[in-house]
Amino acid sequence: MFGNLFKPLEVAIDLGTANTIIIIDDQIIVDEPSIIAIDTRTKEMVAVGKEAQRMHGKTHEYIHTLRPLRNGVIADFEAAETMIRAMIAKARPKSFFNPTMRMVIGVPSGSTEVERHAVMQSAEQAGAREVYLILEPMAAALGIGLDILAPKGNMVVDIGGGTSEIAVMSLGGIVANKSITIAGDEFTEDIQLYMRRQHNIHIFERTAEEIKIRVGAAVPELDDPPADFIVRGPHQMTALPVEIAVSYKEIAQALDKSLSKIEGAILNVLESTPPELYSDIFENGIWLTGGGALLRGLDKRLEAKTKIPVKIAKDPLHAVARGTAVALKNYRQYPFLIKRT
Ligand SMILES: Nc1ncnc2c1ncn2[C@@H]1O[C@H](COP(=O)(O)OP(=O)(O)OP(=O)(O)O)[C@@H](O)[C@H]1O
Ligand SMILES: [Mg+2]
Repeated sequence: MFGNLFKPLEVAIDLGTANTIIIIDDQIIVDEPSIIAIDTRTKEMVAVGKEAQRMHGKTHEYIHTLRPLRNGVIADFEAAETMIRAMIAKARPKSFFNPTMRMVIGVPSGSTEVERHAVMQSAEQAGAREVYLILEPMAAALGIGLDILAPKGNMVVDIGGGTSEIAVMSLGGIVANKSITIAGDEFTEDIQLYMRRQHNIHIFERTAEEIKIRVGAAVPELDDPPADFIVRGPHQMTALPVEIAVSYKEIAQALDKSLSKIEGAILNVLESTPPELYSDIFENGIWLTGGGALLRGLDKRLEAKTKIPVKIAKDPLHAVARGTAVALKNYRQYPFLIKRT
């Protein structure tokens, strides 16, 4: 019994720009937006995750909501630490005895030494005794069950909220990669801009996000098109209420530029991939993960561009988190985990 008591609690975390996911014992215990609400008078946190999300865009002068991560990395250290602490508190089994924690956390492949250090320090401040970091594309690959230790090329495109990470992996390492800050948040901004320019309507981030999910598309022709989405908001000039039916074709147009940039980055990575690995990728396909993988027709669009089969991972929003959990189980064997230096 005491053996169990002193065993560290193993916590796998995907600290994403948009969503934080925590897995303990193969169970997703936390899956909430990466956002906190702060009382500006006391500086105390008043809500975290879904609850804070509900307040977002609807706050008054004493409540301020903020997202501690930008473009995949910690932008506000103090807020990130508060958030991690609160999310872990939600995940932790209730007991009067606090076990030590061993953690694996995903970080963008394009993150700097300083940014990685910030994640490690936040986790330690939040109570972790042992922290390992894993590059997110490797976690995504592990999460969908790819054998990244094999002498074989595997390619993953993870489109999250803040970053799109494109990587080719083999023999437990990244062979070619690119990380760009064009992802879900950028798509949302594209939609806001489009609605303003095209329809003279001012919409908030939440509404743009909803449009993206209801009628978001990467191509202007879909076999199974979603119904138009009705948007309400104030007219730019008159501030009078307007109602507009938005179609997926319009959103495909609004997102076209950003998607072209992602395509460019993918082609870039393919160009710098050694020929032997390229042929493996051609055979096994390119795997799409992250929330962006759910954008209608994205697989078809990328297939047309790369001429390589593109596959959407099962449960793309949880691929990185599942992979961090796999890494945690094998933390002694995996040479690619990043430890404190
Ligand atoms: N059905 C959908 N269609 C299009 N986009 C979606 C869909 N569902 C979620 N998204 C978007 O996916 C993004 C979140 O994805 P994900 O949780 O993978 O990001 P993250 O891991 O938090 O961010 P990052 O990896 O960049 O730090 C958000 O921008 C969200 O709007
Ligand atoms: Mg992510």
